[in-house]
Amino acid sequence: MEKVTMDTLINYAKRYGFVYQGSEIYGGLANTWDYGPLGSELKKNIKDLFWKRFVQESPYNVGLDSSILLNPKAWQASGHIDSFNDPLIDCKACNSRHRADHLIEAHDDQVLADAMDKAEMETYIEQNNVKCPSCGAQKFTAIRQFNLMFKTSQGVVDDKSQDIYLRPETAQGIFLNFKNIERTARLKLPFGIAQIGKSFRNEITPGNFIFRTREFEQMELEFFCKPGTEMEWFDYWKKESKQFLLDLNLADENLKLADHDESQLSHYSNATTDIEYRYPWGFDELWGIASRTDYDLGRHQEVSEESLEYHDQETNERYLPYVVEPSLGVERLFLSILHEGYTEETLENGETRVNMKFHPALAPYKVAVLPLIKKRHREGTLELYKRLAKHFSVVYDEAGKIGKRYRRQDAIGTPYAVTMDDQTLEDGTYTLREKDSMEQVRLTEAELIATITKNITF
Ligand code: GAP
Repeated sequence: MEKVTMDTLINYAKRYGFVYQGSEIYGGLANTWDYGPLGSELKKNIKDLFWKRFVQESPYNVGLDSSILLNPKAWQASGHIDSFNDPLIDCKACNSRHRADHLIEAHDDQVLADAMDKAEMETYIEQNNVKCPSCGAQKFTAIRQFNLMFKTSQGVVDDKSQDIYLRPETAQGIFLNFKNIERTARLKLPFGIAQIGKSFRNEITPGNFIFRTREFEQMELEFFCKPGTEMEWFDYWKKESKQFLLDLNLADENLKLADHDESQLSHYSNATTDIEYRYPWGFDELWGIASRTDYDLGRHQEVSEESLEYHDQETNERYLPYVVEPSLGVERLFLSILHEGYTEETLENGETRVNMKFHPALAPYKVAVLPLIKKRHREGTLELYKRLAKHFSVVYDEAGKIGKRYRRQDAIGTPYAVTMDDQTLEDGTYTLREKDSMEQVRLTEAELIATITKNITF
């Protein structure tokens, strides 16, 4: 694949209304992004396809939409209050702020800073003369552990208000509802609960456009199974997750499975693999898949003093299920999809076109409806718009020459364009143009609906 720079993608995203800087008219708010008409459609399609694959089509999984605010005891139990920290270090020369583990890994990518404690990181930075990436100096403060949760308060009167947190992952809302869902959906192990929603982390070094932000969306699945079977399910969900990405047309060569070794594993995990994508700066985490044992249910059972055990009716055993968790960021997948699809092509006539090669199911608009001549075909095309919009998302464009209108749709990844012309008035057929091949065929309205419907199905 031809290399696409981050600047190209950012400019593209802004120019066509995918992603704007947040609060732009006030000079922006660092690292916040707003999703415009095309971006909000693409995001919605990403979430819908995740839901379709992992809930609708899964024989095992159901869905949940839990609240962002949880009882603070939940974060005490999950370990987020005590240990959801990143190592913060400041440069004494230029006052820039960094994550110590990132500084070390940027200095030597063979070193696993994740596995080091605070003192080991400080010693490494000193002994290896790690430099500040902003100014080149070698003068750093001591490392401080910085909690990433956003704190706020609930209640209107100051002295009666309670400190609460914006969730840093959607997973805990799932664990809190494990018994509710098992009972009310009458589920037997193994089964999974999926959730899509906003998460918030006060990241020390957000950046790389929408890759690392403080407000983002996660698509998470907590899959509950009998202890001892978790490795089977870990492999199963790794395969399913990778297949989902391949089916969305991410190229195999741009995906890499990175297994965590012993020293990188969280204390509650007995296996973790990241699916990495080749971003413009290199391979980086897209989707984390972790076998989390019974840690979360065990901690919530202990702190809430409510039994979260599963009763196996067949064997009459009672136990805490083990959990396998695939956890994917919506915006990271969004960025991967933009990067993968962005293509510049030279046509036979020497003209260049941007062809955004989205999977048709992801495309913000499935079809553009275009009057060949505005004066003569406007009314009929607008009528067609209304009828097609009952089936899929449609955009109408009457501005400029037909060739230019096709180029714009190519650039935003609209797989089909339907043009109305004089022949339509005679025999009721339209021209259907397919984006990648640029081939055109004449079809009746029923035929074009059938063709488009078939090809946009995921
Ligand atoms: N419940 C497990 C969990 O949250 P994580 O590895 O911290 O695990 C899972 O996050 C996924 O969420 C990541 O693989 C990434 O796709 C996304 N993610 C995490 N932090 C993010 C951030 N600051 N900005 C955007 N996406 C983020």
